Amino acid sequence: MGNNTSYQRLLDGNKEWSKAKLKADPEFFNNLTKGQTPQYLWIGCSDSRVPANEITNTKSGEIFVHRNVANLVLHTDVNLLSVLHYAVEVLHVEHIIVCGHYGCGGVIAAMENHDFGIVNKWLRNIKEVYAKYVDELEAIEDITERSNRLVELNVMEQVKNLAKTTVVQKAWEKRALAIHGWVYGFNNGIITDLNCMINELNDLEPIFRYRLSSDTSE
Ligand code: CO
Repeated sequence: MGNNTSYQRLLDGNKEWSKAKLKADPEFFNNLTKGQTPQYLWIGCSDSRVPANEITNTKSGEIFVHRNVANLVLHTDVNLLSVLHYAVEVLHVEHIIVCGHYGCGGVIAAMENHDFGIVNKWLRNIKEVYAKYVDELEAIEDITERSNRLVELNVMEQVKNLAKTTVVQKAWEKRALAIHGWVYGFNNGIITDLNCMINELNDLEPIFRYRLSSDTSE
């Protein structure tokens, strides 16, 4: 549009932020250059209203983050698996948090029968969650309440999907690792713990438990 005001705002904002950080703590950036030791892996939605650090009141360096549309954990997603592998094997995070949010556009879109093109392939995974819980969901008359319940069920399924990975199961052989399912509401800014935590192989249906006999399996 002829001027660069809209994006220049971000660069100007960055300079102000950096100045304020240095003022509050002259060692702030020096400490960041020493490396990261986050205890948490956050798998959240790409939605601009759900920034992991901001809503948890945490600082740079505290949360390792992966975000995608509707916070899905797919066993064929090399991006997600790479982030998971690095967070668990190298950073040794102790907690993995799947955080969905009410009013999720991806979840709402998945409840429709509209053809969204390539996005259909991504949203199909949410449709599978819907199909699995169709009786419970269709007993809810109100469409907003129904989509909110699907948001919750989708988070719970992604928590299970994490437990189904060999990355997580290998970690369990050696140490503690907990997977949590949360939902954020931007109506009040509060995160609800869905209490669907999985922290051991026994929490998972036997068919998904791997017999990990060597260190080479992936
Ligand atoms: Co969303």
